[in-house]
Amino acid sequence: MIKRKQIIKIAIDSPAAAGAGTLAKAISKHYNLLQVDTGKIYRLIALYKIKYPKKFGINFLKKKIKKLKINDLNNKDLLYNNVGHVASIIAKKKEVRKLVYNFQKNLAYNPPKKYKGSCLDGRDITYNIIPDADFKFFITANIKTRALRRFKELRKFNKHITFNEVLKSIKNRDKNDYERKISPLKKTKDSLLISTTNLTKRACFLKIKKIIDRKLLINGNL
Ligand code: CDP
Repeated sequence: MIKRKQIIKIAIDSPAAAGAGTLAKAISKHYNLLQVDTGKIYRLIALYKIKYPKKFGINFLKKKIKKLKINDLNNKDLLYNNVGHVASIIAKKKEVRKLVYNFQKNLAYNPPKKYKGSCLDGRDITYNIIPDADFKFFITANIKTRALRRFKELRKFNKHITFNEVLKSIKNRDKNDYERKISPLKKTKDSLLISTTNLTKRACFLKIKKIIDRKLLINGNL
C-alpha cells in the first residue's frame, strides 16, 4: 500500500447519531482533508443485500468492492433507517470487514494529492484503520439527544416515524456496535472524548479546531 508522507490523519469513532459526520465534514473542509464516512460503506453493502437478496454473497461483494468509488457513498438511499439497521448487522461479519479494510486504509493513507490528508469516521477507525492517526477523537452524546437528532433527520424521509421507534433503533444499534466480537465500538485510551450533548455544531467544531491547531502549531505545521 502506498503511504503518502507528511499528511494529516484524523480518526474519529462514535456511536450512531452522535454528530461525528457533521463534525468530520466541517473539519475536513477547514483543513482540506479527504472526508470518509466509513459507515456509508457498510450502508452500501446493506443496500446491496436489500436490493439483490438472491445474488448477495462474498463473491458478489468482492466484485462490487473492487469497482467501488468514493462517490458511490453519496447515494441518498443509504440514509434510510432500515439500511442503517441492516448495516449494523452485516458489519458484525468478519468476511465483510476484511473486504472493506483495504479500501478504507488506502483512502486514509493515500488520499488524492489535492488533499492535505484524510479524516475518517466510523466505529473501529482509531484502533484498526488508522492506529497511528495524528488526532483521535471519540465523539458521543447521551442517547436521548442522539435519538432526537436522528428523529429529525429521518422525519424528512418518513412522516410517520415516531420518536420512540427511533430511540429503540438507536439502542439496538448501540448494542450491535458495542457488544460485537469483531471490531466493536470502543473508546481507546489515546482518543479524546468529546460529548456533543450540550454543544452546538459550531461549538463542537471550534473545540476540536482548537485542539488540532495547538498541536499543528507546536509541530510547525501551521
Ligand atoms: O449514521 P449512523 O451513526 O447511524 O451509522 P453509520 O456511521 O452510518 O454506520 C452504520 C453501521 O455501520 C453502524 O451501526 C456500524 O455497525 C457499522 N460500521 C462499522 O461497523 N464500522 C465502521 N467503521 C463504520 C460503521
